[in-house]
Amino acid sequence: MAVTAAVGTGTPGTGRPGPGRRLEAVIDNGRSTTSGAGGPAMTGCQGESMTSHGGTGSEDRPVDQAARSVAVYTDHADDYRAAHAAKMSDRAERFAGSLPVPSLILDAGCGPGRDLARFIAHGHVARGADLNPVFVAMASAHAPTTVGDLRDIGSRYPDGTFDGIWASASLVHLLAAEAVDVLGQFARLLRPGGRLYVCLKAVGRTGWLDEPDGRRWYTVWDPEGFAAVVADAGFTVEDVDRGVFVEVWATRNG
Ligand SMILES: C[S@@+](CC[C@H](N)C(=O)[O-])C[C@H]1O[C@@H](n2cnc3c(N)ncnc32)[C@H](O)[C@@H]1O
Repeated sequence: MAVTAAVGTGTPGTGRPGPGRRLEAVIDNGRSTTSGAGGPAMTGCQGESMTSHGGTGSEDRPVDQAARSVAVYTDHADDYRAAHAAKMSDRAERFAGSLPVPSLILDAGCGPGRDLARFIAHGHVARGADLNPVFVAMASAHAPTTVGDLRDIGSRYPDGTFDGIWASASLVHLLAAEAVDVLGQFARLLRPGGRLYVCLKAVGRTGWLDEPDGRRWYTVWDPEGFAAVVADAGFTVEDVDRGVFVEVWATRNG
């Protein structure tokens, strides 16, 4: 397992995006698109069905939209696990295969732990973190997993701890500035040359979304803009897969 001290390059860890205009440009990709009740169903990188936003945007969000969104998973955690059990296997296999065995992988926002089990089956060492304690209990059956907020994940591990960070649809409930800050923390937690996968929502409108099990906040990103934000955080972006979700594959500079 390669565990190497991080070497700061560029802007990682600053917690700040590039020019403010860039951040404004990359979020709210869908603001110019029509959305509302009765809008088209969409399928994301998780393959989930989503209805259109009923929210009006940041002006009506509560103090902590992420915690409120995460709590919605609690009452239907078993259903979520079953519904998503078969998803993302190709991406998880691609990510696992991009790292030497064994590597230390953080599944950031691991949910019930589906991908932790996959990484371990591949021969890697995995750790999970999630803000939802019910998901953490489920994920702990596969790998050591802690209840934690990704918004302060950088304070939980020494710099350069991980060879890979996998964030599958886990930054979706963060405000854009929060996600940018977390990317900087990911850069610090990864060794130089470490791999990053992030998948975020790229279609629709930033705001509250009414889903069958409750209401969650989603921030919508422009794919090219999000890739630029990842690069600003200290990564070389290798691939950007565009769809309802933008998927970024990147390597930590240094
Ligand atoms: C859409 S689910 C994805 C779960 C899993 N990664 C997957 O691919 O199935 C979003 C996950 O991110 C977690 N999450 C969202 N915001 C978080 C935060 N600020 N800190 C930690 N976990 C968070 C949620 O609790 C949930 O498990």
